[in-house]
Amino acid sequence: MKMPNLVLIGFMGTGKTTVGKKLAKALGMRFIDTDHEIERVTGMTVNQIFRKYGEVRFRSEEKAAVRRITREGNHVIATGGGVILDPENVCMLKQSGVVICLSASPEVIYRRLSRKRNRPLLRTENPMEAIISLLEQRQPLYRCADFTIDTSGLGLDEVVAEAVRVYRVRTSEDT
Ligand code: S3P
Repeated sequence: MKMPNLVLIGFMGTGKTTVGKKLAKALGMRFIDTDHEIERVTGMTVNQIFRKYGEVRFRSEEKAAVRRITREGNHVIATGGGVILDPENVCMLKQSGVVICLSASPEVIYRRLSRKRNRPLLRTENPMEAIISLLEQRQPLYRCADFTIDTSGLGLDEVVAEAVRVYRVRTSEDT
């Protein structure tokens, strides 16, 4: 049987990839990450795409990845934080399954990302300011989710258990 996907959206540093991998194991589904898929197809890292071709090119690769991935079911899909900027992406993701948003406070996001250098949009003089301003712009768009889990005070296993619960409730409602 083709099960609906479980789609994770949310800002950078909210744990979509880490949670997604564990969730896929818990649900016996396959895991896919849109950023990894873009890197596989283009043979470049996300950083390289931004640096060489700019954000517009990245967004077009991202949309193509969403289109390909959402054709199938049975996947836990971790998306990039900006995937919701394109309304067609939102539509494709929502049609393909249950959309769960992972959220976190700006302080938690900053702490989780402060030692990472693979987020081109945060490679500015003041990353905290960039986080706050991007969060503000995107907050309304993340509300497209069927459910939101605030991960700030939760451990990995708690987030996974909550997402499993939400997915099971939502998919049993549909049958
Ligand atoms: C982006 C988030 C990143 C990646 C790219 C752009 C964004 O993914 O897609 O750097 O616009 O928020 P993560 O959310 O996995 O960090």
